[in-house]
Amino acid sequence: MLGTLLALAASSAPSAAQDGAKPAAAPPAAGAADKIAKGREIFANFACGSCHSLADAGAAGHVGPSFDGDPNLSEPFIIDRVTNGQGAMPAFGGQLSPEEIAAVAAYVSHAAAK
Ligand code: HEC
Repeated sequence: MLGTLLALAASSAPSAAQDGAKPAAAPPAAGAADKIAKGREIFANFACGSCHSLADAGAAGHVGPSFDGDPNLSEPFIIDRVTNGQGAMPAFGGQLSPEEIAAVAAYVSHAAAK
């Protein structure tokens, strides 16, 4: 009898935990939106738009390539360029943390695909 109760208690516990986990499934999407919002701020604060065009950011720079409608701007590619720079593109690896660079890459990749 006691064994049955314990078994019932044990079997009901995981489903209670799963029910509890359902609302927690939302944050990953919210986290991605937060990351993009943070990237948008970094794009503005570090004046990426003084050299690059990106309609979403109201940026119309012409020193570097325009990002609008560029399907080749993957996040890993942007992270590499922003971290290490190339030619007249400054390296931001010393000014921005890897998390900040990942955020600006997520933002540019997202906004360029619009
Ligand atoms: C002083 C002007 C300048 C600033 C500021 C600048 N860039 Fe650039 N960027 C360039 C130039 C020039 C290139 C082209 C480099 C090359 O390929 O020789 C470039 C290239 C890039 C590329 C590669 C694009 C491609 O299609 O090859 C990315 C991505 C990029 N920049 C992102 C950024 C971000 C994000 C910021 C802000 C954190 C930023 N840039 C700030 C001048 C700038």
